[in-house]
Amino acid sequence: MKFKQAYDVVGHLPCTEESQCRVLYDWVLEARPAESLELGFLHGKTSCIIAAALHELGAGHLTSIDMEGVRNMPNVPNILQNLEQLGLQDVATPVFSRISYTWELKKLIEKQTKENRCQPFLDFVFLDGAHLWEPDVCAFFLALKLLKPGGWFLFDDYMFSIEKSDWWSRSPDMKDKPDDYRKESQVERLVTLIVSQHPDMESVVIRDNWVWARKKPDAQVQPGPTVTQLTKTIAKRWLLERLFSGKR
Ligand SMILES: C[S@@+](CC[C@H](N)C(=O)[O-])C[C@H]1O[C@@H](n2cnc3c(N)ncnc32)[C@H](O)[C@@H]1O
Repeated sequence: MKFKQAYDVVGHLPCTEESQCRVLYDWVLEARPAESLELGFLHGKTSCIIAAALHELGAGHLTSIDMEGVRNMPNVPNILQNLEQLGLQDVATPVFSRISYTWELKKLIEKQTKENRCQPFLDFVFLDGAHLWEPDVCAFFLALKLLKPGGWFLFDDYMFSIEKSDWWSRSPDMKDKPDDYRKESQVERLVTLIVSQHPDMESVVIRDNWVWARKKPDAQVQPGPTVTQLTKTIAKRWLLERLFSGKR
């Protein structure tokens, strides 16, 4: 599906503007990610743009995660309706989480774990969610386990801060937060202190409030430590001791 056809349907929706949607669309056409993951879809504007590019390629799938609350927002079509209007339901699968995208990432890691190793399967992860330190640092570490060597992260809103955001600065949750937390560019801190220092990352490019970061093509899924499960042994011993000491 051509960019214009998709943008004519989702262009009126808030968030990512046309020029960035275009960059995203063109990047997908060029990089040809087989499996993509979007964290934060709201009404599905960028999900539809990614899905349109995958449709144009004739291959690839997007999983997109947000909160259950965005299923029913007043006066705006939701992601399911937008995908359906474009006929892209088979290309993108929305997940409405009742907890958080980090919780859904836990489920994906469980699914991908074989013999104590998480097998990465994603080629592209677009993080455009909370833009806050706690959930997004966690999301990065979890998603990195699922990202294949040579795969790409895209972080939205490098310059974001709570104070600069109309919506967040008015949010009751943020009212009592200390000044440094409200003023901090939390995505920038994530990129500078976590992504750029991670030994599995190869490159980080900051452009127009977006950050593209590539995982090293030779990053290995290292085996974890041997896990010795002592709990059962201890519990068994404790039970036996109690049984026998009672009889003695
Ligand atoms: C900026 S909007 C996403 C916009 C979308 N990518 C686009 O441009 O069309 C951010 C979304 O992240 C979601 N979000 C924030 N924190 C989240 C979390 N912890 N788990 C799931 N979704 C979250 C919000 O509900 C919101 O819909």
